[in-house]
Amino acid sequence: MQAKLKVLLIGSGGRESAIAFHLRKSPHLSELKVYPGNGGFPDHEILSEGAFNVLSKESVQSYLKQNPFDFIVVGPEDPLVAGFADWTAELKIPTFGPDSFCAQVEGSKDFAKSLMTEANVPTAEYVTFTEYSTSLKYLESKSIPIVIKADGLAAGKGVTVATTKEMAANALKEIFEDKKFGDSGKRVVIEEFMDGQEASIFAISDGESYFLLPAAQDHKRAYDGDKGPNTGGMGAYCPTPIVTDTVLQKVKERVFDRMFETFRKKGHPYRGLLYAGLMISPEGEPRVVEFNCRFGDPETQCVLAMLEGDLLELLYTASTGKITNVRASVKTGAATVVVLAAEGYPNSYEKNISLNLPETPGQNTYLFHAGTLKKDGKVFSSGGRILGVVAYGSDLKSSVYQAYSFLEKIQAPKTFYRTDIAHRAL
Ligand code: AMP
Ligand code: GLY
Repeated sequence: MQAKLKVLLIGSGGRESAIAFHLRKSPHLSELKVYPGNGGFPDHEILSEGAFNVLSKESVQSYLKQNPFDFIVVGPEDPLVAGFADWTAELKIPTFGPDSFCAQVEGSKDFAKSLMTEANVPTAEYVTFTEYSTSLKYLESKSIPIVIKADGLAAGKGVTVATTKEMAANALKEIFEDKKFGDSGKRVVIEEFMDGQEASIFAISDGESYFLLPAAQDHKRAYDGDKGPNTGGMGAYCPTPIVTDTVLQKVKERVFDRMFETFRKKGHPYRGLLYAGLMISPEGEPRVVEFNCRFGDPETQCVLAMLEGDLLELLYTASTGKITNVRASVKTGAATVVVLAAEGYPNSYEKNISLNLPETPGQNTYLFHAGTLKKDGKVFSSGGRILGVVAYGSDLKSSVYQAYSFLEKIQAPKTFYRTDIAHRAL
Protein backbone atom coordinates (compact mmCIF):
# COMPACT_ATOMS: atom_id res chain seq x y z
CA MET A 1 0.00 0.00 0.00
CA GLN A 2 0.93 3.67 -0.42
CA ALA A 3 3.44 4.57 2.29
CA LYS A 4 1.68 7.56 3.85
CA LEU A 5 -1.97 8.58 3.72
CA LYS A 6 -3.82 11.75 4.53
CA VAL A 7 -7.05 10.42 6.00
CA LEU A 8 -10.47 11.96 6.56
CA LEU A 9 -12.75 10.32 9.12
CA ILE A 10 -16.47 11.14 8.99
CA GLY A 11 -18.49 11.03 12.22
CA SER A 12 -18.68 12.27 15.79
CA GLY A 13 -19.39 9.37 18.13
CA GLY A 14 -17.52 7.06 20.48
CA ARG A 15 -17.11 4.77 17.48
CA GLU A 16 -15.17 7.44 15.58
CA SER A 17 -13.06 8.26 18.66
CA ALA A 18 -12.06 4.58 18.84
CA ILE A 19 -11.41 4.32 15.09
CA ALA A 20 -9.26 7.47 15.22
CA PHE A 21 -7.27 6.13 18.19
CA HIS A 22 -6.34 3.01 16.21
CA LEU A 23 -5.70 4.89 12.94
CA ARG A 24 -3.25 7.20 14.72
CA LYS A 25 -1.07 4.19 15.64
CA SER A 26 -0.51 3.32 11.99
CA PRO A 27 2.88 4.00 10.41
CA HIS A 28 0.92 4.62 7.18
CA LEU A 29 -0.86 7.71 8.55
CA SER A 30 0.56 11.08 7.52
CA GLU A 31 -2.32 13.23 8.72
CA LEU A 32 -5.75 12.64 10.24
CA LYS A 33 -8.73 14.98 9.93
CA VAL A 34 -12.21 14.40 11.30
CA TYR A 35 -15.58 15.87 10.52
CA PRO A 36 -17.56 16.88 12.49
CA GLY A 37 -15.66 15.21 15.39
CA ASN A 38 -16.26 15.75 19.11
CA GLY A 39 -14.63 17.27 22.20
CA GLY A 40 -12.10 14.44 22.47
CA PHE A 41 -10.33 15.22 19.19
CA PRO A 42 -7.39 17.62 19.20
CA ASP A 43 -8.42 20.95 17.63
CA HIS A 44 -5.99 20.60 14.73
CA GLU A 45 -7.70 17.39 13.57
CA ILE A 46 -11.21 18.86 13.34
CA LEU A 47 -12.29 20.48 10.06
CA SER A 48 -13.87 23.88 10.45
CA GLU A 49 -17.59 23.97 11.27
CA GLY A 50 -19.84 23.80 8.21
CA ALA A 51 -16.96 22.55 6.00
CA PHE A 52 -19.51 20.55 3.97
CA ASN A 53 -22.84 18.79 4.22
CA VAL A 54 -22.16 15.03 4.41
CA LEU A 55 -25.54 14.26 2.84
CA SER A 56 -25.10 16.48 -0.23
CA LYS A 57 -23.21 15.20 -3.26
CA GLU A 58 -22.46 18.66 -4.54
CA SER A 59 -21.18 19.91 -1.21
CA VAL A 60 -19.02 16.83 -0.54
CA GLN A 61 -17.50 16.76 -4.03
CA SER A 62 -16.79 20.46 -4.16
CA TYR A 63 -15.04 20.34 -0.75
CA LEU A 64 -12.96 17.30 -1.66
CA LYS A 65 -11.87 18.78 -4.98
CA GLN A 66 -10.42 21.73 -3.11
CA ASN A 67 -9.13 19.73 -0.15
CA PRO A 68 -7.69 16.46 -1.37
CA PHE A 69 -7.47 13.35 0.80
CA ASP A 70 -5.87 9.97 0.06
CA PHE A 71 -8.46 7.95 1.95
CA ILE A 72 -11.81 8.47 3.67
CA VAL A 73 -13.34 6.36 6.44
CA VAL A 74 -17.08 6.79 6.93
CA GLY A 75 -18.39 6.08 10.45
CA PRO A 76 -22.18 6.52 10.37
CA GLU A 77 -24.81 5.01 8.06
CA ASP A 78 -26.66 8.12 6.81
CA PRO A 79 -23.94 9.35 4.43
CA LEU A 80 -23.39 5.81 3.07
CA VAL A 81 -27.10 5.28 2.46
CA ALA A 82 -27.25 8.71 0.77
CA GLY A 83 -24.41 7.69 -1.60
CA PHE A 84 -21.23 9.11 -0.03
CA ALA A 85 -19.04 6.25 -1.33
CA ASP A 86 -20.50 6.67 -4.86
CA TRP A 87 -19.64 10.38 -4.83
CA THR A 88 -16.05 9.78 -3.69
CA ALA A 89 -15.67 6.93 -6.21
CA GLU A 90 -16.43 9.46 -8.97
CA LEU A 91 -13.51 11.52 -7.63
CA LYS A 92 -11.37 8.35 -7.37
CA ILE A 93 -10.83 8.78 -3.64
CA PRO A 94 -10.57 5.39 -1.91
CA THR A 95 -13.29 5.21 0.75
CA PHE A 96 -14.07 2.71 3.48
CA GLY A 97 -17.80 2.08 3.37
CA PRO A 98 -20.09 0.37 0.85
CA ASP A 99 -21.71 2.01 -2.18
CA SER A 100 -25.33 3.13 -1.93
CA PHE A 101 -26.62 -0.10 -3.47
CA CYS A 102 -24.98 -2.22 -0.76
CA ALA A 103 -25.82 0.30 1.99
CA GLN A 104 -29.50 -0.43 1.41
CA VAL A 105 -28.87 -3.50 3.54
CA GLU A 106 -29.24 -1.04 6.42
CA GLY A 107 -31.20 1.70 4.66
CA SER A 108 -34.22 -0.47 3.88
CA LYS A 109 -35.48 -3.35 6.03
CA ASP A 110 -37.46 -4.61 3.05
CA PHE A 111 -34.30 -4.67 0.86
CA ALA A 112 -32.41 -6.52 3.60
CA LYS A 113 -35.18 -9.07 4.09
CA SER A 114 -35.63 -9.82 0.39
CA LEU A 115 -31.86 -10.13 -0.11
CA MET A 116 -31.74 -12.57 2.82
CA THR A 117 -34.55 -14.59 1.27
CA GLU A 118 -32.71 -14.65 -2.07
CA ALA A 119 -29.43 -15.61 -0.39
CA ASN A 120 -31.10 -18.21 1.85
CA VAL A 121 -29.84 -16.48 5.01
CA PRO A 122 -31.73 -17.53 8.17
CA THR A 123 -33.95 -14.74 9.51
CA ALA A 124 -37.48 -14.21 10.89
CA GLU A 125 -40.52 -14.74 8.63
CA TYR A 126 -41.84 -11.39 7.42
CA VAL A 127 -44.34 -9.54 5.25
CA THR A 128 -43.93 -5.98 3.94
CA PHE A 129 -46.88 -3.54 3.84
CA THR A 130 -47.48 -0.19 2.21
CA GLU A 131 -51.01 0.32 3.57
CA TYR A 132 -52.27 0.77 7.10
CA SER A 133 -55.54 -1.15 6.60
CA THR A 134 -53.94 -4.30 5.12
CA SER A 135 -51.24 -4.30 7.78
CA LEU A 136 -53.92 -4.15 10.52
CA LYS A 137 -55.84 -7.02 8.94
CA TYR A 138 -52.65 -9.11 8.79
CA LEU A 139 -51.95 -8.33 12.44
CA GLU A 140 -55.34 -9.79 13.42
CA SER A 141 -54.29 -13.17 12.03
CA LYS A 142 -50.99 -13.27 13.95
CA SER A 143 -50.10 -14.10 17.54
CA ILE A 144 -47.95 -12.03 19.91
CA PRO A 145 -45.18 -11.16 20.51
CA ILE A 146 -44.70 -9.69 17.07
CA VAL A 147 -42.24 -7.17 15.67
CA ILE A 148 -43.14 -4.01 13.73
CA LYS A 149 -40.40 -2.18 11.80
CA ALA A 150 -40.44 1.06 9.83
CA ASP A 151 -38.66 0.27 6.54
CA GLY A 152 -36.11 3.10 6.40
CA LEU A 153 -33.54 4.69 8.70
CA ALA A 154 -35.11 5.83 11.97
CA ALA A 155 -32.10 6.47 14.22
CA GLY A 156 -32.65 3.12 15.93
CA LYS A 157 -36.20 4.02 16.99
CA GLY A 158 -38.22 2.40 14.20
CA VAL A 159 -38.60 -1.04 15.77
CA THR A 160 -41.34 -2.12 18.21
CA VAL A 161 -41.26 -5.54 19.81
CA ALA A 162 -44.99 -5.71 20.62
CA THR A 163 -46.13 -7.87 23.50
CA THR A 164 -49.83 -7.02 23.01
CA LYS A 165 -51.98 -6.57 19.92
CA GLU A 166 -52.74 -2.99 21.05
CA MET A 167 -49.05 -2.16 21.16
CA ALA A 168 -48.58 -3.57 17.65
CA ALA A 169 -51.62 -1.71 16.28
CA ASN A 170 -50.39 1.49 17.89
CA ALA A 171 -46.94 1.08 16.30
CA LEU A 172 -48.59 0.68 12.88
CA LYS A 173 -50.71 3.76 13.48
CA GLU A 174 -47.69 5.83 14.49
CA ILE A 175 -45.79 4.83 11.36
CA PHE A 176 -48.58 4.95 8.76
CA GLU A 177 -51.03 7.51 10.13
CA ASP A 178 -48.98 9.84 12.35
CA LYS A 179 -45.98 9.59 9.98
CA LYS A 180 -43.66 9.47 12.99
CA PHE A 181 -40.70 8.48 10.80
CA GLY A 182 -41.64 10.45 7.67
CA ASP A 183 -40.64 8.71 4.44
CA SER A 184 -38.83 5.98 6.41
CA GLY A 185 -42.31 4.74 7.32
CA LYS A 186 -43.73 4.50 3.81
CA ARG A 187 -43.29 0.76 4.09
CA VAL A 188 -43.55 -1.42 7.17
CA VAL A 189 -42.10 -4.86 7.80
CA ILE A 190 -44.02 -7.07 10.22
CA GLU A 191 -41.98 -10.01 11.38
CA GLU A 192 -41.98 -13.03 13.62
CA PHE A 193 -40.53 -12.60 17.11
CA MET A 194 -37.27 -14.48 17.64
CA ASP A 195 -36.26 -15.77 21.05
CA GLY A 196 -32.67 -16.02 22.22
CA GLN A 197 -29.61 -13.92 22.96
CA GLU A 198 -28.30 -11.21 20.70
CA ALA A 199 -24.75 -10.86 19.36
CA SER A 200 -23.10 -8.45 16.92
CA ILE A 201 -20.47 -9.70 14.48
CA PHE A 202 -18.52 -7.42 12.14
CA ALA A 203 -16.94 -8.56 8.88
CA ILE A 204 -14.53 -6.29 7.02
CA SER A 205 -14.85 -7.23 3.36
CA ASP A 206 -12.89 -6.41 0.18
CA GLY A 207 -15.73 -7.75 -1.95
CA GLU A 208 -14.28 -11.27 -2.11
CA SER A 209 -12.70 -12.20 1.22
CA TYR A 210 -13.47 -10.94 4.67
CA PHE A 211 -11.86 -10.52 8.08
CA LEU A 212 -14.00 -11.27 11.14
CA LEU A 213 -13.75 -9.26 14.33
CA PRO A 214 -14.65 -10.95 17.65
CA ALA A 215 -18.36 -11.36 18.40
CA ALA A 216 -19.67 -8.73 20.80
CA GLN A 217 -22.79 -8.42 22.92
CA ASP A 218 -24.39 -5.00 23.18
CA HIS A 219 -26.66 -3.91 26.05
CA LYS A 220 -29.45 -1.93 24.43
CA ARG A 221 -31.71 -1.18 27.40
CA ALA A 222 -31.00 1.93 29.43
CA TYR A 223 -30.93 0.42 32.92
CA ASP A 224 -29.47 -2.51 34.85
CA GLY A 225 -31.15 -5.87 34.42
CA ASP A 226 -32.11 -4.97 30.82
CA LYS A 227 -34.85 -2.67 32.08
CA GLY A 228 -35.97 0.65 30.66
CA PRO A 229 -36.19 2.03 27.15
CA ASN A 230 -34.10 0.90 24.19
CA THR A 231 -31.00 3.01 23.52
CA GLY A 232 -28.23 3.07 20.92
CA GLY A 233 -26.30 0.81 23.32
CA MET A 234 -25.14 1.32 26.91
CA GLY A 235 -22.13 -0.98 26.87
CA ALA A 236 -20.71 -4.07 25.25
CA TYR A 237 -18.10 -6.75 25.68
CA CYS A 238 -16.29 -9.25 23.49
CA PRO A 239 -15.75 -12.02 22.74
CA THR A 240 -19.17 -13.22 23.86
CA PRO A 241 -19.37 -16.90 24.89
CA ILE A 242 -22.82 -17.22 23.25
CA VAL A 243 -20.99 -17.31 19.93
CA THR A 244 -19.15 -20.60 20.31
CA ASP A 245 -16.87 -21.90 17.54
CA THR A 246 -19.78 -23.98 16.22
CA VAL A 247 -22.13 -20.98 16.14
CA LEU A 248 -19.43 -18.87 14.46
CA GLN A 249 -18.93 -21.49 11.77
CA LYS A 250 -22.67 -21.42 11.05
CA VAL A 251 -22.63 -17.61 10.90
CA LYS A 252 -19.75 -17.65 8.40
CA GLU A 253 -21.35 -20.22 6.12
CA ARG A 254 -25.00 -19.26 6.38
CA VAL A 255 -24.75 -15.49 6.80
CA PHE A 256 -21.54 -13.83 5.60
CA ASP A 257 -20.54 -16.22 2.76
CA ARG A 258 -24.06 -16.15 1.34
CA MET A 259 -24.56 -12.39 1.67
CA PHE A 260 -21.21 -11.48 0.09
CA GLU A 261 -21.79 -13.96 -2.73
CA THR A 262 -25.22 -12.48 -3.42
CA PHE A 263 -23.83 -8.92 -3.51
CA ARG A 264 -21.20 -10.09 -6.02
CA LYS A 265 -23.89 -11.74 -8.16
CA LYS A 266 -25.76 -8.46 -8.24
CA GLY A 267 -22.70 -6.71 -9.62
CA HIS A 268 -22.03 -4.82 -6.37
CA PRO A 269 -19.25 -6.57 -4.45
CA TYR A 270 -19.58 -5.43 -0.83
CA ARG A 271 -16.50 -3.43 0.15
CA GLY A 272 -16.66 -2.13 3.71
CA LEU A 273 -17.97 -3.42 6.99
CA LEU A 274 -21.03 -5.61 7.24
CA TYR A 275 -22.51 -5.73 10.72
CA ALA A 276 -24.69 -8.76 11.41
CA GLY A 277 -27.06 -8.32 14.35
CA LEU A 278 -27.88 -11.90 15.29
CA MET A 279 -30.31 -13.74 17.52
CA ILE A 280 -28.80 -17.00 18.77
CA SER A 281 -31.55 -19.44 19.75
CA PRO A 282 -31.23 -21.50 22.93
CA GLU A 283 -30.31 -24.42 20.62
CA GLY A 284 -27.40 -22.41 19.16
CA GLU A 285 -29.02 -21.61 15.82
CA PRO A 286 -28.17 -18.09 14.56
CA ARG A 287 -30.72 -15.97 12.70
CA VAL A 288 -30.25 -12.40 11.46
CA VAL A 289 -32.15 -9.60 13.24
CA GLU A 290 -30.69 -6.84 11.08
CA PHE A 291 -27.70 -5.78 9.06
CA ASN A 292 -25.84 -2.49 9.37
CA CYS A 293 -23.47 -1.13 6.74
CA ARG A 294 -20.96 0.33 9.23
CA PHE A 295 -19.17 -0.26 12.52
CA GLY A 296 -21.57 -0.57 15.49
CA ASP A 297 -21.44 1.78 18.45
CA PRO A 298 -20.53 1.09 21.26
CA GLU A 299 -19.37 -2.41 20.16
CA THR A 300 -16.54 -1.03 17.98
CA GLN A 301 -14.97 0.63 21.00
CA CYS A 302 -14.30 -2.77 22.62
CA VAL A 303 -13.94 -4.86 19.45
CA LEU A 304 -11.04 -2.76 18.11
CA ALA A 305 -9.20 -3.22 21.41
CA MET A 306 -8.91 -6.88 20.40
CA LEU A 307 -7.34 -6.19 17.01
CA GLU A 308 -3.72 -7.17 16.49
CA GLY A 309 -2.59 -5.34 13.39
CA ASP A 310 -2.78 -2.05 11.56
CA LEU A 311 -6.38 -0.79 11.30
CA LEU A 312 -5.51 1.75 8.61
CA GLU A 313 -3.87 -0.90 6.46
CA LEU A 314 -6.86 -3.21 6.97
CA LEU A 315 -9.47 -0.60 6.02
CA TYR A 316 -7.46 0.83 3.12
CA THR A 317 -6.72 -2.60 1.67
CA ALA A 318 -10.37 -3.67 2.01
CA SER A 319 -11.31 -0.58 0.00
CA THR A 320 -8.63 -0.87 -2.68
CA GLY A 321 -7.11 -4.34 -2.84
CA LYS A 322 -7.02 -7.79 -1.33
CA ILE A 323 -7.54 -8.07 2.40
CA THR A 324 -5.81 -11.47 2.44
CA ASN A 325 -2.53 -9.56 1.96
CA VAL A 326 -2.92 -7.86 5.35
CA ARG A 327 -1.49 -9.43 8.47
CA ALA A 328 -4.17 -8.95 11.10
CA SER A 329 -5.47 -11.20 13.85
CA VAL A 330 -7.56 -11.14 16.99
CA LYS A 331 -5.91 -11.10 20.41
CA THR A 332 -6.70 -13.52 23.20
CA GLY A 333 -8.32 -11.96 26.29
CA ALA A 334 -11.43 -9.79 26.41
CA ALA A 335 -12.52 -6.16 26.15
CA THR A 336 -15.40 -4.23 27.68
CA VAL A 337 -16.91 -0.81 27.03
CA VAL A 338 -19.22 0.98 29.45
CA VAL A 339 -21.09 4.08 28.28
CA LEU A 340 -21.58 7.12 30.49
CA ALA A 341 -24.87 8.78 29.50
CA ALA A 342 -26.76 11.94 30.44
CA GLU A 343 -29.63 11.51 32.91
CA GLY A 344 -32.84 11.11 30.96
CA TYR A 345 -31.23 9.52 27.90
CA PRO A 346 -32.64 8.15 25.54
CA ASN A 347 -35.51 10.60 26.13
CA SER A 348 -34.91 14.29 26.74
CA TYR A 349 -31.71 14.82 28.68
CA GLU A 350 -29.50 17.48 30.15
CA LYS A 351 -26.80 19.05 27.95
CA ASN A 352 -23.76 21.19 28.79
CA ILE A 353 -22.81 19.06 31.78
CA SER A 354 -19.32 20.06 32.87
CA LEU A 355 -17.02 17.03 32.78
CA ASN A 356 -14.07 16.61 35.07
CA LEU A 357 -11.99 13.96 33.38
CA PRO A 358 -9.12 12.16 35.09
CA GLU A 359 -5.68 11.94 33.48
CA THR A 360 -5.04 9.40 30.74
CA PRO A 361 -6.14 5.98 31.94
CA GLY A 362 -3.62 3.25 32.72
CA GLN A 363 -2.35 0.75 30.19
CA ASN A 364 -5.10 -1.09 28.33
CA THR A 365 -7.81 1.33 29.52
CA TYR A 366 -9.10 3.96 27.14
CA LEU A 367 -11.46 6.90 27.40
CA PHE A 368 -13.39 7.66 24.22
CA HIS A 369 -15.44 10.83 23.80
CA ALA A 370 -18.89 10.64 22.17
CA GLY A 371 -21.39 13.45 22.85
CA THR A 372 -18.87 16.04 24.07
CA LEU A 373 -17.59 19.42 22.98
CA LYS A 374 -14.78 21.68 24.06
CA LYS A 375 -15.28 25.31 25.13
CA ASP A 376 -12.29 27.39 26.21
CA GLY A 377 -10.32 24.23 26.86
CA LYS A 378 -13.04 22.73 29.08
CA VAL A 379 -15.13 19.69 28.16
CA PHE A 380 -18.94 19.67 28.27
CA SER A 381 -21.57 17.13 27.29
CA SER A 382 -23.47 17.73 24.06
CA GLY A 383 -25.22 14.39 23.51
CA GLY A 384 -27.02 11.55 25.31
CA ARG A 385 -24.14 9.09 25.17
CA ILE A 386 -21.25 11.15 26.51
CA LEU A 387 -18.24 8.89 27.01
CA GLY A 388 -17.14 5.31 26.54
CA VAL A 389 -14.67 3.70 28.92
CA VAL A 390 -12.92 0.69 27.39
CA ALA A 391 -10.66 -1.82 29.08
CA TYR A 392 -8.79 -4.76 27.62
CA GLY A 393 -7.79 -7.58 29.98
CA SER A 394 -6.45 -11.11 29.95
CA ASP A 395 -9.98 -12.26 30.75
CA LEU A 396 -13.46 -10.76 30.80
CA LYS A 397 -13.60 -10.36 34.58
CA SER A 398 -10.45 -8.25 34.68
CA SER A 399 -11.54 -6.11 31.73
CA VAL A 400 -14.90 -5.40 33.39
CA TYR A 401 -13.18 -4.58 36.67
CA GLN A 402 -10.71 -2.19 35.00
CA ALA A 403 -13.43 -0.40 33.05
CA TYR A 404 -15.54 0.23 36.15
CA SER A 405 -12.53 1.20 38.30
CA PHE A 406 -11.71 3.96 35.82
CA LEU A 407 -15.32 5.03 35.36
CA GLU A 408 -15.63 5.64 39.10
CA LYS A 409 -12.92 8.31 38.84
CA ILE A 410 -14.91 10.40 36.37
CA GLN A 411 -16.71 13.33 37.96
CA ALA A 412 -19.82 14.23 36.03
CA PRO A 413 -23.08 15.28 37.71
CA LYS A 414 -26.42 14.27 36.18
CA THR A 415 -25.05 11.26 34.39
CA PHE A 416 -25.52 7.52 34.77
CA TYR A 417 -24.16 4.21 33.53
CA ARG A 418 -25.17 0.57 33.72
CA THR A 419 -23.35 -1.36 36.43
CA ASP A 420 -23.98 -4.80 34.92
CA ILE A 421 -22.26 -4.77 31.53
CA ALA A 422 -21.19 -8.34 30.61
CA HIS A 423 -23.26 -9.78 33.48
CA ARG A 424 -24.55 -12.61 31.29
CA ALA A 425 -21.02 -13.86 30.68
CA LEU A 426 -19.48 -13.51 34.15
P1 AMP B 1 -33.20 -3.51 14.79
O1 AMP B 1 -33.26 -2.01 14.66
O2 AMP B 1 -33.77 -4.25 13.63
O3 AMP B 1 -31.86 -3.99 15.23
O4 AMP B 1 -34.12 -3.85 16.04
C1 AMP B 1 -33.85 -3.30 17.30
C2 AMP B 1 -33.95 -4.36 18.36
O5 AMP B 1 -35.27 -4.93 18.34
C3 AMP B 1 -33.03 -5.55 18.14
O6 AMP B 1 -31.75 -5.31 18.63
C4 AMP B 1 -33.75 -6.62 18.91
O7 AMP B 1 -33.50 -6.51 20.29
C5 AMP B 1 -35.20 -6.31 18.66
N1 AMP B 1 -35.72 -7.09 17.54
C6 AMP B 1 -35.78 -6.71 16.24
N2 AMP B 1 -36.32 -7.69 15.48
C7 AMP B 1 -36.62 -8.70 16.31
C8 AMP B 1 -37.24 -9.99 16.14
N3 AMP B 1 -37.67 -10.41 14.96
N4 AMP B 1 -37.39 -10.76 17.24
C9 AMP B 1 -36.98 -10.34 18.45
N5 AMP B 1 -36.42 -9.13 18.69
C10 AMP B 1 -36.24 -8.32 17.63
N1 GLY C 1 -25.07 -0.74 18.93
C1 GLY C 1 -25.98 -0.92 17.88
C2 GLY C 1 -25.63 -0.27 16.60
O1 GLY C 1 -24.56 0.23 16.41
O2 GLY C 1 -26.47 -0.26 15.71
